[in-house]
Amino acid sequence: MTDSLFNKEVLQAEISQIRQFDEQVSEFGELIRLTLGQPDFPTPSHVKEAAKRAIDENFSFYTQTAGYHLLREAAAAFVNEKYRLDYNPDTEIIATVGATEALAASLLTLLNPGDKVIIPSPFFTLYESLVRYAKAEPIFIDTSDTGFVIDPEILEKTMNEHKDSLKAVIFNYPNNPTGTTWDKETVMKLADLFSRFPEVIAISDEIYSEIVYDEPFVSLGEYLRQQTIVINGLSKSHAMTGWRLGLIFAPEYLSEQIVKTHQSLVTSASSITQFAGIEALTVGKDDAIPMRDQYLKRRNVVVEKLSALGFEIAEPTGAFYVFAKVPERLNQNSYDFCYDLAKETKVAIIPGSAFGDAGEGYVRLSYAASLDNIQTAMDRIAEYMENK
Ligand SMILES: Cc1ncc(COP(=O)(O)O)c(C=O)c1O
Repeated sequence: MTDSLFNKEVLQAEISQIRQFDEQVSEFGELIRLTLGQPDFPTPSHVKEAAKRAIDENFSFYTQTAGYHLLREAAAAFVNEKYRLDYNPDTEIIATVGATEALAASLLTLLNPGDKVIIPSPFFTLYESLVRYAKAEPIFIDTSDTGFVIDPEILEKTMNEHKDSLKAVIFNYPNNPTGTTWDKETVMKLADLFSRFPEVIAISDEIYSEIVYDEPFVSLGEYLRQQTIVINGLSKSHAMTGWRLGLIFAPEYLSEQIVKTHQSLVTSASSITQFAGIEALTVGKDDAIPMRDQYLKRRNVVVEKLSALGFEIAEPTGAFYVFAKVPERLNQNSYDFCYDLAKETKVAIIPGSAFGDAGEGYVRLSYAASLDNIQTAMDRIAEYMENK
């Protein structure tokens, strides 16, 4: 096969480092995996029942392109109650195949070849792939010196440097991989900044919005409605990663274009899943709370144990990740540390370098795992560190 057969960007894309690492450490046998980027809870029973009813009652046809109207109404009411957002279900909400398709449809709708997209780093690697597939150029901003939250002044400088071809900035709070989130003041500063760049769109991936521990979550859509595409979905809030239901909230002038791309990509999200989504966003609107309480207990165990072992950690205020700095005395890069740890202790965690250069020197632990497994893993890591 000649290389010219393929889209160059696809050819050059690496298989996710996370997958590579996972395959490599699998040879060490049975591992405790603190690697998962998905809730370990089952989907709430009443949501599963709604899907079963949808099957039995033959909701087996294509839905409207943007999704069942009832689902869009439920989504509008949900984000209004939780985040004070105000979107019209007729024209400003699109149900997608996970947040993944929401991001793909949004970026493909916006980007022309040569456009630039700013991505604070470390970052969820899908962003870079999608930007590159659209023949656009990612511009990374290292957030490791600013507590893994974007600093509006640094962002402004970068936006100015690239303003001629800058199309979008992708935000992700609460963040994967760092577990950090933004506060209201930062969101307001960002909104003010964007008002000076009226041609730049903010894509705000808020998929972890229901999993925050201190302050209530603040959506960029509240303060920058006209320039923001809010990405959300049920994967994390309702433990529904396999169901594939995402949501786009965007002003009409953006939504009416994105919906065309969405139609070309997938026609519509699954009818059965959308039915489950209506139940989740109405009857189940608070389903995330008991899960969040569990995550919080686990987070506290991980933060306490790792801090005591000399790992520096940026306060994880959301999602279910801890991003810890490998102690300098070990003099190991993040990949080698994780590889050696998996080999010696049978605990798998992800090297921070998998999330961009700014993640080098750190490791990501997911606490979407049972408290028992977390405790055992922490004991093993403690023993490992003592012998180092
Ligand atoms: C930050 C972030 N955005 C988007 C996604 C994808 O979500 P979905 O499963 O709904 O496509 C993930 C999944 O891990 C994520 O961590």
